[in-house]
Amino acid sequence: MNLKTVFDNNKVWIQNKLDSNPNYFEELADGQNPELLYIGCSDSRVTAEELMGAAPGEVFVHRNIANMVISIDLNVMSVINYAVNELEVKHVIVCGHYACGGVKAAMQSADLGILNPWLRNIRDVYRIHRVELNAIENEDNRYDRLVELNVQEQCVNLIKTAAVQKAIRDRGLVVHGWVFDIHSGKLIDLEIDFVKYLEDIQEIYHLD
Ligand code: CO
Repeated sequence: MNLKTVFDNNKVWIQNKLDSNPNYFEELADGQNPELLYIGCSDSRVTAEELMGAAPGEVFVHRNIANMVISIDLNVMSVINYAVNELEVKHVIVCGHYACGGVKAAMQSADLGILNPWLRNIRDVYRIHRVELNAIENEDNRYDRLVELNVQEQCVNLIKTAAVQKAIRDRGLVVHGWVFDIHSGKLIDLEIDFVKYLEDIQEIYHLD
């Protein structure tokens, strides 16, 4: 992509916004009040706002390789704490996608240097669910299933945090696991029963 095009596009975008609302940018600068926190993959094909048809101000977004929620990653944990405690979002979404390169890499035996500790967390998901995964003979189907199970486990990681546990209890925060089907563009709701997971893990992870 030509970088000059980026700045040209920006001018067109500004004009389009002002044409529809002359006060657009004054209102945008007033502050944000998003109801959704979206945690997705950095993959350039899986744009958060565009695939949801969301406007600026509507979604607080965090993206990393393979949409991971890792308890010692200060970046994702800061985003979750700020979005849940300060912005008081109503929904937290973990959105994975089929054909995820990060998940694929975790299925292969290769030394990927600094990526190893990151991908290790996906290998852990594989280990937890290896009976189910190893029973899937078709490799593409196994890959798709690992994408789904990774979303599920990252939702579980979300509800292990004190901020999310408190917000579920005090104000009915809802946790969602979605998969973007890159082959069709469809967004699939995995219908994660986060309340059941919270009950399951509370014996060990209860923080509030
Ligand atoms: Co990905």
